[in-house]
Amino acid sequence: MSTKSKVAVIGLGNIGSAVAANLVKGNRPIIVADRTLAKTEALAQKLGALAQPADIAAAIKDADIIVLAIYFNPIQEFLKQYASELAGKVIVNPSNPIAPAENGGFKKIVGEDESSGQFLPTQLPQGVKLAKALGTWEPHL
Ligand SMILES: NC(=O)c1ccc[n+]([C@@H]2O[C@H](COP(=O)([O-])OP(=O)(O)OC[C@H]3O[C@@H](n4cnc5c(N)ncnc54)[C@H](OP(=O)(O)O)[C@@H]3O)[C@@H](O)[C@H]2O)c1
Repeated sequence: MSTKSKVAVIGLGNIGSAVAANLVKGNRPIIVADRTLAKTEALAQKLGALAQPADIAAAIKDADIIVLAIYFNPIQEFLKQYASELAGKVIVNPSNPIAPAENGGFKKIVGEDESSGQFLPTQLPQGVKLAKALGTWEPHL
């Protein structure tokens, strides 16, 4: 039996699908989940037997480490929605603190000198650890 931590990638867009593909390339079994089951199943099929599709609740339950590859505002909602289920987990956070701007593109949505890696720890449910990784160091965003 493998003693490695179980990893789930939640949010299977640009970043999540690339991280999932690289983990599988490294021979790592993973759980994949998105709010759209069809997207989850399509990616799992593409990645092969090492990628196990799951719904979000099952992915959280079965994982030790969760790569949460969704946008900054949805992350905050996610942390509230799954607060009790996330206890004891490590969340890997690639997010930049941005949201769609009214005139197109993106705008920064935290303080000018604040980063996602600084802000999100203040939003964490009890017993959750956060690792900032896979994104950009972004005080300028
Ligand atoms: N793209 C980049 O170059 C880049 C670089 C550095 C950091 N980042 C950061 O990485 C994160 C993801 O960016 P991305 O470009 O990969 O975004 P994306 O392509 O929009 O992918 C996000 C995925 O997560 C899904 N999703 C949204 N809310 C969800 C929820 N509550 N639960 C589960 N799945 C959910 C989305 O589904 P729907 O399609 O239904 O919305 C979509 O499949 C962001 O925080 C971003 O700031 C991105």
